[in-house]
Amino acid sequence: MTVGQISGQNVVADEFRAALHQVPAAVVILTTQLAGRDQAQTVTATAICAGSTEPPSLLISLREDAPFTGALSESGVVAVNFVAQEHHEMVRSFVEAGAAEGFARSQTWTRGTTGAPLLNRSVVSMDCTIIQSQRQGANIVFTGQVQTIHTAEAEGLLYRGGLLRRLETGS
Ligand SMILES: Cc1cc2nc3c(=O)[nH]c(=O)nc-3n(C[C@H](O)[C@H](O)[C@H](O)COP(=O)(O)O)c2cc1C
Repeated sequence: MTVGQISGQNVVADEFRAALHQVPAAVVILTTQLAGRDQAQTVTATAICAGSTEPPSLLISLREDAPFTGALSESGVVAVNFVAQEHHEMVRSFVEAGAAEGFARSQTWTRGTTGAPLLNRSVVSMDCTIIQSQRQGANIVFTGQVQTIHTAEAEGLLYRGGLLRRLETGS
């Protein structure tokens, strides 16, 4: 993307995506578990923010056509795992090899109260039940009410410019 200003009708999806790519975002692995299935579903996501503090809720924006979105609509439960730097290689394998294969390789999960797998030693993992979903263009925005919160002493992993990045400590 070139440096400068884009406005009005010139703001198209590619420009929007390219602009957002420049913004450092916390990397999240979402998981859900469908009843009667052995394998949990996972997806890598960054479009997550607080919905409200009372009740504690998260907003999760997912493409409607992604397989995980259908699974989440069906299960109604999600674990939101803000990954730590130690998960770098696992996240890279998720991004490169596909979520299902990455999940099978990993041994670092614990089942949460909702049934969705929590990633051990995440910076923060929140176990949520879906209380609302709303179509927003090509996406669905889910509201997850937080049921449990797990925290660890760890530095988070960021995504910017198509790369996974570690936080640098300093002033
Ligand atoms: C760092 C990163 C962040 C992503 N964030 C989101 C997101 O917030 N919402 C979303 O719908 N897809 C997001 N994606 C894309 C999904 O992870 C996934 O690749 C896409 O839904 C296609 O799924 P499939 O490979 O199972 O078909 C992101 C991908 C990466 C690598």
